[in-house]
Amino acid sequence: MAKFPVIRMRRLRKNENLRNLVRETNLSIDDLIYPVFVIPGKGKKEEIPSMPEQFRFTIDLLVEEVQKIKEKGIKAIILFGIPEEKDELGKDAFDENGIIQRVLREIRKYEKEIILIADLCMCEYTSHGHCGILKGKEVDNDKTLEYLGKIAVSQVKAGADIVAPSGMMDGQVKAIRKTLDETGFEHIPILSYSVKYASSFYGPFRDAAESTPQFGNRKTYQMDIANAREAILEAQLDFEEGADILMVKPALSYLDVIYRIKKIFHRPVAAYNVSGEYSMVKASAMQGWINEKDIVLEILTSIKRAGADLILTYHAKDVAEWLKNE
Ligand code: PBG
Repeated sequence: MAKFPVIRMRRLRKNENLRNLVRETNLSIDDLIYPVFVIPGKGKKEEIPSMPEQFRFTIDLLVEEVQKIKEKGIKAIILFGIPEEKDELGKDAFDENGIIQRVLREIRKYEKEIILIADLCMCEYTSHGHCGILKGKEVDNDKTLEYLGKIAVSQVKAGADIVAPSGMMDGQVKAIRKTLDETGFEHIPILSYSVKYASSFYGPFRDAAESTPQFGNRKTYQMDIANAREAILEAQLDFEEGADILMVKPALSYLDVIYRIKKIFHRPVAAYNVSGEYSMVKASAMQGWINEKDIVLEILTSIKRAGADLILTYHAKDVAEWLKNE
């Protein structure tokens, strides 16, 4: 192999145009999905204390917000609903007039193009805060599957373009695919949270979505943070059950996992740049300790470089602005 002085790595680093010409990874607004939270009531826009500059909107105000999101050039949002009433079975999650069904219908009235992704989980809807139906103190996997299909169909009927199961129940993609197909929704894609770790990085989200488990934790269904081989099996099972997009979550501490999944499976890979990752950056940016723009672009570029095709991120609106002005 040629060596110095034939090879001089600095030749292609000479100026910005040259560097951009040979840049391997480019961040695009087309790849970003913006998460939004919807609450009951009217006329409310509340800042989430643990997630500065992120808000929870009532349906009326979220409809206006979606227009702004769209004007910034963002093409997809993922919706999280916080219902008026929670109960043991999380009934609001599959109620025709549940919070998420209502917001989907309302946005659809005004907005035909933006891609609406419905997070498909029970934890925001159950009084106990777990991601499924309980049997004693345990989440009953197979019982929960019966409900997940129902939730999916109700979300799609209300206007969801994609459903995104995030509860880490075994067989959830298969159950949802089957129910969707049986109801004539065979064209609706499933974005599966295939590799979801039992991570402390979800802390701020649980404040935002009021979804902290009332007892215990999620370690009997979400993955052990130390495992990577197991992630491949999780992704493989979802791939075989018919997941259209495979997600790894969180993103930043799991770049190695994103890299592995991308190498093995010929399906789009999504990464969730989660609430804790967002709030850490935001907190130090507010202190003036870091350059927020540069740090965020570096983080998101690293997630893409690791292999993510899509990124779910609370920074999406800022990034849209920054990329426009580049
Ligand atoms: C569960 C869900 C969670 C997140 C997205 N979907 C939380 C959890 O599993 O406890 C976390 C997202 C984030 O932290 O930004 N429905």
